[in-house]
Amino acid sequence: MSMQGTDTIAVFGATGQQGGAVVDALLERGARVRALVRSPESDRSQALAARGVELAGVRIEDPASVVAALAAVDAFSFMTPEADSLEQVEEEVRIGTALVDAAVAARVPHVVFTSVFGAERETGVPHHDSKHRIEEHLRRSGLRATMVRPTGFMENFTTVMAPTMEDGTILVRMPLPEDVPLKLVSIRDIGRIAAAILLGTVVVPGGAVEVIGDELTGAQIAAAFGAHAGIPARYEALPLSVLPTELDRVMFREFAKASEHPSDIAAVREIEPSVRDLSQWIRATGWTVPEDSRARA
Ligand SMILES: NC(=O)c1ccc[n+]([C@@H]2O[C@H](COP(=O)([O-])OP(=O)(O)OC[C@H]3O[C@@H](n4cnc5c(N)ncnc54)[C@H](OP(=O)(O)O)[C@@H]3O)[C@@H](O)[C@H]2O)c1
Repeated sequence: MSMQGTDTIAVFGATGQQGGAVVDALLERGARVRALVRSPESDRSQALAARGVELAGVRIEDPASVVAALAAVDAFSFMTPEADSLEQVEEEVRIGTALVDAAVAARVPHVVFTSVFGAERETGVPHHDSKHRIEEHLRRSGLRATMVRPTGFMENFTTVMAPTMEDGTILVRMPLPEDVPLKLVSIRDIGRIAAAILLGTVVVPGGAVEVIGDELTGAQIAAAFGAHAGIPARYEALPLSVLPTELDRVMFREFAKASEHPSDIAAVREIEPSVRDLSQWIRATGWTVPEDSRARA
């Protein structure tokens, strides 16, 4: 806690989805935010500055720049960028490790790593094991650390997993067997939970929390969209071969083992009662039915 009673929290990834949600939640709670950005002049960085966020320019290749940006903060939140290849996975580990080392050098009192669900163990999913390696590095660092482990983003239903409309029916398609539930969370809620932990209003047992707001099979996901729109909806399981990268194929193979790793949504709601389930997320985001690609004449 700072002398003035207002915490200063450093955020890496603030111009992105998860970091942006952390910033939103911190500002709502009256915290001071310092965003560690690589391009202070970018539109996204400048939009943060316009909301009162302090910008600190950093280059991962220049550790001193990161250490300087972390000076005198009360806590530090970081995520690591998406990796689509094994080369990018190594880059992800390099970034995460460098951020942890800088936090050690700057003696940051508390570090929160927004990792991924399942990162407490090795799964064989390259871009999840990368986060396991960073978690291990953070644990070994001696820093006070909390792992926030998000499940799949509900926002994927506005992009890569967007439902389609065909012959008057909403269609949800995923490379996931019909009987397997998908673990989901809205990005807003990742930010809210991380902010509560960063500001010390919540301490999670064991120093880690899986962040989940809903767990639904494909048919249940389709039903949620259909109920919102008042239109019939159905699910179609796709083969893994539709996925563009081997990394994603390995990841969805791991998702199919969901029942081996039960989630605790009630525990997450105890930390943050406003955590949304999928139906609430659909309503809140104003999701609308896409154009019918195969409308009958
Ligand atoms: N999609 C899912 O369902 C899901 C679920 C759980 C976990 N995840 C994990 O979430 C992560 C992606 O999170 P996101 O969607 O929030 O990412 P995002 O929106 O793509 O944002 C990436 C952020 O990292 C910054 N960044 C990237 N490389 C940098 C560098 N070298 N130096 C400084 N800043 C850098 C970007 O800054 P700029 O603005 O400068 O580019 C941006 O702020 C991935 O690791 C993924 O595995 C995803």
